[in-house]
Amino acid sequence: MGRADASMGAMIVKDERGLMEVDGYPLTDLAREWGTPLYVYSKRQIEADATRLKKALGAHFDRFHISYALKANSNPHIVKILKDLGLGADCSSPAEALLAARMGFPTEKSIYTGNFESPQDLKVPLKNRMTINLDDHARAQNPFEDSPLPPVLSFRINPGIGRGGFEGIITGGADAKFGIPYEKCGEAYAWAKSLGIDRFGIHMMTGSNILNPFYFAEITGKLLSIIETHLCPLGIELEFINIGGGLGLPYSPEEKELDVEEVFRLVADVFHPKVERLSIGHPALAIEPGRYLVGRAGLLLSTVTHVKESYRTYMGLDSGMNTLLRPSLYGAYHPIHLDGKSQTNAVSPYWVCGQVCENSDLHPKARDLETPTPGDLAVMEYAGAYGFAMSSHYNGRPRPAEVLITEDGPELIREREEDGDIFLRVPHFSLNAEGPK
Ligand code: LLP
Repeated sequence: MGRADASMGAMIVKDERGLMEVDGYPLTDLAREWGTPLYVYSKRQIEADATRLKKALGAHFDRFHISYALKANSNPHIVKILKDLGLGADCSSPAEALLAARMGFPTEKSIYTGNFESPQDLKVPLKNRMTINLDDHARAQNPFEDSPLPPVLSFRINPGIGRGGFEGIITGGADAKFGIPYEKCGEAYAWAKSLGIDRFGIHMMTGSNILNPFYFAEITGKLLSIIETHLCPLGIELEFINIGGGLGLPYSPEEKELDVEEVFRLVADVFHPKVERLSIGHPALAIEPGRYLVGRAGLLLSTVTHVKESYRTYMGLDSGMNTLLRPSLYGAYHPIHLDGKSQTNAVSPYWVCGQVCENSDLHPKARDLETPTPGDLAVMEYAGAYGFAMSSHYNGRPRPAEVLITEDGPELIREREEDGDIFLRVPHFSLNAEGPK
């Protein structure tokens, strides 16, 4: 049995030789069997994170819904773990709605939130009787013209404020393209009533990767004031008040773990007295986290390809912005460790990069690592959310494989793509055919 290493997230332990393992499985064995780059997930960790969150909500709310935001990681084997824990699904595209239906999420626990969605997009969630969360009401065409009305309708409200780990993931406030400006939300609900809809919720999602526990209570208070001013005069009753996702993870060593029990205690302090005072029925508190449920439970394994002494010292990996986009897109930090080496013996800083022909294919900070050698296994933490989900074929690189460690051991849950897969849907062409095209 290995020991935990304080410099790493709780997922990784080291065996007596200093080699890393997860749930008793050496990472070198996984890399040897399935190659790199490889995403590795722990079912045990997903269950632990989801259970902590359910307990935190359950301690302060009699009625609550947690819908897993499928966009964070939609591998059906990962999604099934969360479905089996009784969570609902938060979908943002027809494919995600089909996935939720196929996985057997109860429709009353599934919500569809689009953004500039077309009437065509709404057909799948409507057919599957999901709650529809509209991003706007003022449209050229009634989105329910040739479909049945949704059983429950909510609107995504932009409460005028937003926050996020990076600018690109702030989804509320004056610069956000999402939702209905709160001043117009009365209009939206009046329009929905005029269509004959009589079961409602309300929703906001103002930003992602938030580590400030007070923020969630602040936005809840803001949404409740909006409800009081704009919905109460219409006599709207609400089945849920959805405050979105956004629960953050401490990616970098300077960041502090978000205490979710504290978050929902603070939210409850704002929620209960106000909801009791307003005549809006008995709404449940709803949330739709993605990152919090799967982010910590995923690692990205890569192989060191080369170390280059240039104007800086670079450590090149066989994974890059094509495999894990977050560092390039947002300047996001992911802890990086070399298996079998110790950060306490660090000799110098290395700039960690991938193989893509862009200079942004680089982690944002130099890392202190013990002299890397080609062939070393590099392990990135907190890669379970928005990792594989945002990977691409850029520069002609096939997408990586995914492995899930369950009580039965490690299992391949997505095969590594081959070079030919990049051209799969190109008519009259196959990379594998003989001779020039
Ligand atoms: N609900 C809606 C409507 C959303 O748009 C999102 C995420 C979520 C829930 C889940 O948010 P979470 O709990 O994961 O914060 N690619 C970025 C994150 C973008 C989040 C977009 N929306 C990243 O890698 O950090």
